[in-house]
Amino acid sequence: MSVTVRVPAKVNVQLAVGAARPDGFHDLANVFLAVGLYDEVTVAPAQELRVTCEGPDAAHVPLDRTNLAARAAIALAERHGRSPDVHLHIAKDIPVAGGMAGGSADGAGALLACDTLWGTGASREELLEICAELGSDVPFSLVGGAALGVGRGEQLTALEVGGTFHWVFATAGRGLSTPAVFREFDRLAEGRDIPEPVASRALLDALGKGDPDALAAAVSNDLQPATLSLFPELARTLAAGEEAGALTSLVSGSGPTTAFLARDPDAAERIAQALRASGTCGSVRTASGPAPGATVVTAF
Ligand code: C5P
Repeated sequence: MSVTVRVPAKVNVQLAVGAARPDGFHDLANVFLAVGLYDEVTVAPAQELRVTCEGPDAAHVPLDRTNLAARAAIALAERHGRSPDVHLHIAKDIPVAGGMAGGSADGAGALLACDTLWGTGASREELLEICAELGSDVPFSLVGGAALGVGRGEQLTALEVGGTFHWVFATAGRGLSTPAVFREFDRLAEGRDIPEPVASRALLDALGKGDPDALAAAVSNDLQPATLSLFPELARTLAAGEEAGALTSLVSGSGPTTAFLARDPDAAERIAQALRASGTCGSVRTASGPAPGATVVTAF
């Protein structure tokens, strides 16, 4: 018996960041859009909990109990008084440490896969609660589509999207640690008043209408200056994408993956080719959104 769950990556079309809270986290107004780049998590009974991973970035994925997929299996097992002895296999297509919620995707995927394998019958609310314990972005990986996340980003409201948005994503030569980017945000913010993070009305309207020009005019990422401060070379990638005709370019989440909005699939392909030829980035992928959240694809 095994269960396979497919989980999408995300891009943040708005990431408004407030001042650091006493618990070290930051209040956010975080507009997530799931995009069609997927990890697949397969779970099967085993003698003991173990994690394996395949894919181009597999060497950079931790295979111990710090992996969010392992932590998800342990959390669900503990709540239901059973052992977490499963083999979790991750087929990884989402860039690792890239700002596209790849680790969060594996946590949400493992949770849904274990729930299905074990017949736990956990409610959606319970699954979302466990997701929020695992990490700020994990609840969104479960639900997918588009959503506004407030609090740490884990309190979600689903958003209507009136069309398909076409994106190009460029990885960088190395990953970035999310805590390091937030620390740099705090350093750059020192001595300044940081306003309360609020979702942009123009951005939510652009999503609702499915209008790529309006979305391009409204995207924003408050972490971008911090990411560029730690990784200045990304400015060249952003410029290369804009020169190639992207409607807008931005850092995805805490980065260092960069995201480029295209008017249609042909434009996305042209921008992808130009980015590959520019020599300013690692691998380049196209993907559209919104994409569905974690979904069971096989169970037998
Ligand atoms: O929630 P998650 O484990 O994904 O967060 C990783 C790190 O990112 C946190 O330890 C914190 O440093 C930073 N973070 C933050 N504010 C948030 C979300 C994450 O400061 N809202």
